[in-house]
Amino acid sequence: MKILVANWKMNGTIDLCREFLPMLNAAKFPESLVICPPYPLLHCFKDKKFKLGAQNCGLKSCGAYTGEVSPVLLKEIGCSYVIIGHSERRISFHESNADIFEKFKLLCELGIKPIVCIGEKLEEKTNYKQVLSEQLRYFLDYGDLLSNCIFAYEPVWSIGTNIIPSLSEIEEITSFIKQKTMSQVLYGGSVNDKNIKDILNIPSLDGVLIGGASLKLKEFSLIIQSAELLKN
Ligand code: PGA
Repeated sequence: MKILVANWKMNGTIDLCREFLPMLNAAKFPESLVICPPYPLLHCFKDKKFKLGAQNCGLKSCGAYTGEVSPVLLKEIGCSYVIIGHSERRISFHESNADIFEKFKLLCELGIKPIVCIGEKLEEKTNYKQVLSEQLRYFLDYGDLLSNCIFAYEPVWSIGTNIIPSLSEIEEITSFIKQKTMSQVLYGGSVNDKNIKDILNIPSLDGVLIGGASLKLKEFSLIIQSAELLKN
């Protein structure tokens, strides 16, 4: 099955985890399902068959960094994936490409798979190749590490807007990223139960990153079922 990554962002409660658990436990291909709740909810999904991911991590493994979360602890609690460089972190928390690359190296050292988000803003749309190439610049010298990494193409203008690029645009841009990085590539931005099938049918795509729709039990369950049926 193609990879489905659920990014709950700063949403969800212990009760919501309890509601989701039976559905997630019933997934037919749990190794392709990555659930990324906020840090304090990670324990609710510990030791399950599906995979656990965090939405961010600190730049160092320990030290005087009040409020940051060590990737070492994330590994200890069972995270095998960590999302880094989400546009919400780049924009609201001013994370730079250099910061994201530091996190990437640390995660690779720890054996955690980084899911590196890249994507252009609306005003950069016509110039996407240059924008994405700049976001990828640090990574391209680390060919051996890239094989263990996933890139998520998330156009900023598509996140939470219900507007998605055309399927041919997604195919063209994710192929461009794949060609450059030789890594697995996901698409993220307004993925829902209606468009999932068409998106997952794009041959160059290895999966999707889902925000809002992954918090709705019924909708996310339909998304998982569509992915299971495609199986490729
Ligand atoms: P969305 O978010 O699915 O709600 O658009 C995707 C993301 O930000 O990862």
